[in-house]
Amino acid sequence: MILVTGGAGFIGANFVLDWIAATGEPVVNFDKLTYAGNLENLAALNGDARHVFFRGDICDRALVDALLTQHRPRAIVHFAAESHVDRSIHGPGEFMRTNVEGTFTLLEATRAYWGELADDAKEGFRFLHVSTDEVYGSLGPNDAPFTETHAYEPNSPYSASKAASDHLVRAWHHTYGLPVLTTNCSNNYGPYQFPEKLIPLVMANALAGKPLPIYGDGMNVRDWLYVGDHCAAIRAVLAGGRCGETYNIGGWNEMPNLVIVKTICALLDEMRPGAAGKYEQLMTFVKDRPGHDRRYAIDARKIERELGWRPAETFETGIRKTVRWYLEHQDWVAHVQSGAYREWVTKNYGARE
Ligand code: NAD
Ligand code: DAU
Repeated sequence: MILVTGGAGFIGANFVLDWIAATGEPVVNFDKLTYAGNLENLAALNGDARHVFFRGDICDRALVDALLTQHRPRAIVHFAAESHVDRSIHGPGEFMRTNVEGTFTLLEATRAYWGELADDAKEGFRFLHVSTDEVYGSLGPNDAPFTETHAYEPNSPYSASKAASDHLVRAWHHTYGLPVLTTNCSNNYGPYQFPEKLIPLVMANALAGKPLPIYGDGMNVRDWLYVGDHCAAIRAVLAGGRCGETYNIGGWNEMPNLVIVKTICALLDEMRPGAAGKYEQLMTFVKDRPGHDRRYAIDARKIERELGWRPAETFETGIRKTVRWYLEHQDWVAHVQSGAYREWVTKNYGARE
């Protein structure tokens, strides 16, 4: 079996569902269930013995040791993190704790466990660290996309904490020989994404007739990847990636935020026309994110060349599926928009108006 951390969050839950469907191999899912973790994401696995959920904190060494000893995984896929840039600006502390100290704790527990394995198991064991393109910093309009050898230049507390975790993973390989793999992925979208991130937030606000907040001039560029493609890429890296290597994962799909928001509005106009007219009328320019990175773009040729992975979805197919999913899962959206969610909206958007 494999151990997944953060498997109740957006990408982690998609990965657990995808992994069990694709491989049938059991998963132990270890997640703290912060505001971003939600067992409803995994409801399709209720009663399925191949999914064992365990609530806990990756910073808790004794708990991680006990899990490893009890379940003896052949691999660990590490998603658990604080993941939202705006939250890291309001409160960086939890990002340092989970993303840096948590990854350190996990690496140390893994090193002890791996060190005791028999030769065959030791040889086959993998620790896959899921990271982000944001560690590379921001590109100018004519710069080449990020390759795996691009310098690390993180600009936000979130990306700095992820960069720190990447460095720890690298060092544990270099110094102790731990068989690690690191993936640096671009912006994901798809089912079960918490409505604090741009795409689900725009859908939730549009359907509620609320303003669609666009930071700055709306011309910041991201490279968007459908989450199912990210899951397939992680499977490919786990199966065939070379230990100690990093793999960039992206959608070859750069778009400014304004285009993303207008595309969602047009799809909603088609699938769920609003009584008050076109959804685009709700677009509202608000105060920019401090230190807002201008452009990310991923050069994903290494993973394609070495492992044969390419995204299956185009943005057109992926965003259509995603909008449909949110329209069909309005109960899921309503459940995650709890009191804590409303407090976050007031904190982040109240001061931008
Ligand atoms: P998310 O915020 O939706 O989910 C994070 C999960 O981690 C939650 O289930 C949460 O409960 C859990 N968690 C948080 N702190 C924990 C702790 N201390 N111990 C155990 N569990 C804890 O995040 P996501 O968007 O699914 O991102 C998953 C990973 O992928 C992160 O490492 C993130 O940096 C990386 N990533 C995300 C994107 C993206 O576009 N969302 C892109 C590239 C990389
Ligand atoms: O690039 C990978 C990263 O993508 C991941 O590592 C992060 O975990 C993930 O959150 C995401 O970071 P971004 O900051 O790019 O995503 P977000 O959805 O927060 O914002 C996308 C763009 O939209 C960004 O330029 C900021 C802008 N934005 C965002 C929000 C929430 C707005 O204009 N308005 C908003 O209300």
